[in-house]
Order: sequence, then C-alpha cells, then structure tokens
Amino acid sequence: MPMDLTGQVALVTGGASGIGAGTARMFAAAGAQVVVADVDETSAHVLAEEIGGTALRCDVGVLADNHAAVSLAEKTYGGLDVLMLNAGVNSGFTLDDFDEAGYRRAMGVNLDGVVFGLVAGVPALRRCGGGRIVAVASLAGLAPVPEDPVYAANKAAVVNLVRSVAPDLHADGISVNALCPGYTDTAILGRFRAGLEAVNWPLMAVEDVVAAVSSILASDATGEAWLVQSGHEPQPYRFRGVPGPKVPSLASSPSRISESPKSNSSAKS
Ligand SMILES: NC(=O)c1ccc[n+]([C@@H]2O[C@H](COP(=O)([O-])OP(=O)(O)OC[C@H]3O[C@@H](n4cnc5c(N)ncnc54)[C@H](O)[C@@H]3O)[C@@H](O)[C@H]2O)c1
Repeated sequence: MPMDLTGQVALVTGGASGIGAGTARMFAAAGAQVVVADVDETSAHVLAEEIGGTALRCDVGVLADNHAAVSLAEKTYGGLDVLMLNAGVNSGFTLDDFDEAGYRRAMGVNLDGVVFGLVAGVPALRRCGGGRIVAVASLAGLAPVPEDPVYAANKAAVVNLVRSVAPDLHADGISVNALCPGYTDTAILGRFRAGLEAVNWPLMAVEDVVAAVSSILASDATGEAWLVQSGHEPQPYRFRGVPGPKVPSLASSPSRISESPKSNSSAKS
C-alpha cells in the first residue's frame, strides 16, 4: 500500500541528489510537505521547486545549520514529523594515505551531521507529539571496509548512536532507525564505481533504497539497523547480544545497558 504522509512535514538532509532526492520525491508524492536541506543549495532549490517543497543551504556538520533547517520546517509548515538524516560523503583514503582534512570532513558530515540533526530535530518532533527518524548509515556500518575504514567507522557510529537513543525517544513517541544500504547507483560511489563495475557488482537503484525507507516508516520498529542489499527484502540486522558482567549483585539493579523497545538490539547477557 502506498505510504500516506498527508498533513505531515518531512525534512531530508542531503536531499539534493541520490537517495535523499529520491526520498524527498517519495515523501512529497505521499502527501508530505518537504524541506530539502543540502550543502548544494542550487540543486536543493531545483528539487524543492519540482516537488512543491522548500529548500535551504545546510551544512549538516554545522550545528546552527541543522537548527536553521528545523526552524524553516516549523516556520513554513508548522512543525516536523519525519526526519531523514541522509547527508553523507565517502572518505576515499586508507590510514596509509591518511588525509587529516578529509578525515575531519568525513566525520563532520557522516557522524556530526547525524548527531547535530538529532539535537536540532528531536525537540521539534517532541513539540509535534512524536515522529519518525531515519538516519542513513550503510552496510559499511555493519561490516569491515578495508578500502575506506574511516567511512566504515563513522557509519558504525551512526548505527550504535541510533540503537542508543532509541529507548528514550520511544518514550516520547519517536521512532529512530538506521538505514544500511549496500552499494547504490549514486554520485557518492566516485572512484569506487569503476572497481565495482569491473566485477559486475549489482548496484541497487535509488528506488530500491527509497522503498526500504517506506518499509521502515511503515513498521513500528525502532532502534533497528535495516539491511538493504540487492536481491533481499529490507530487514533489521540481527545483532548478537553482548554478555553482561557475571556479578550476581548487579542482577536486580537498574542498568542503562538494556534492550531497546521493539528491537533485537540487546546488550544484556
Ligand atoms: N550510494 C551508496 O552506495 C550508499 C551506500 C550506503 C549508504 N549510503 C549513504 O547514503 C547517503 C546518501 O548518499 P547518496 O548515495 O545519495 O550520495 P549522493 O552523493 O548522491 O548524495 C549525498 C548528498 O549529501 C549532500 N551533502 C554532502 N555533504 C553535505 C553536508 N555537509 N551538508 C549537507 N549535505 C551534504 C550532497 O550535496 C548530496 O546531495 C549518504 O549518507 C551515504 O553515505 C550510500
């Protein structure tokens, strides 16, 4: 059944191209009013015009820009219901050819951008009585990526950030899930594209990943990392639980390390 977001307000970071643009189009087609936030201001405005939304220049690595994006949603459309924290860059180096500026940029966009997006967006979702968040991580957040370890590290951080904030947000009626796609046919592939094509790697279409966003939003899951892999149905990744300490006296004491609501993500023994 097509998603119905009539009367809802959605904000998409990195919404000017690729997965973000596809998601912004899907949100608008589902009836949402959409704010497109991207460092590429021109393309963001072009897309906003196409879908009848609004746009702004936003560098997600700058906290104030995230606040400005949320503020625009509230001022223009009266609130915020759906937050898609999607902006991302690849790193493009290993530790052998380490690039400090590239490292700061990649961490700033891929990790700070999601942390700052939550800091700015969650209060607005609370003001609307709840909402839904999708943070775009990657399969690179669940599996080693020797050719781009910094990307793998910041995407893994997004996965555990989502798992960690989900329980408290659930109490406020807010779901938060990580989207973990495999290689998808967008501009971010950059210099990796030739190698993937050389081995006939099946790149997913943006539409496949956007369909997974719909599946996540249609579910009542929270605190999950959703695998999106070519040829498979989108599904929450099954983490192994982490054993707790073998200290009997801890058994009855409350712990912050606990199972997420409606999540398989247990750190209990
Ligand atoms: N394409 C893939 O293979 C793949 C796989 C897994 C995860 N992802 C993730 O999907 C997300 C979207 O990437 P994509 O594949 O659509 O690539 P893309 O390059 O088409 O889109 C990325 C968007 O993010 C924007 N952006 C970059 N830096 C920004 C910043 N500082 N502030 C705001 N916007 C910024 C870009 O301008 C662009 O519009 C990223 O988080 C990426 O890591 C992509």
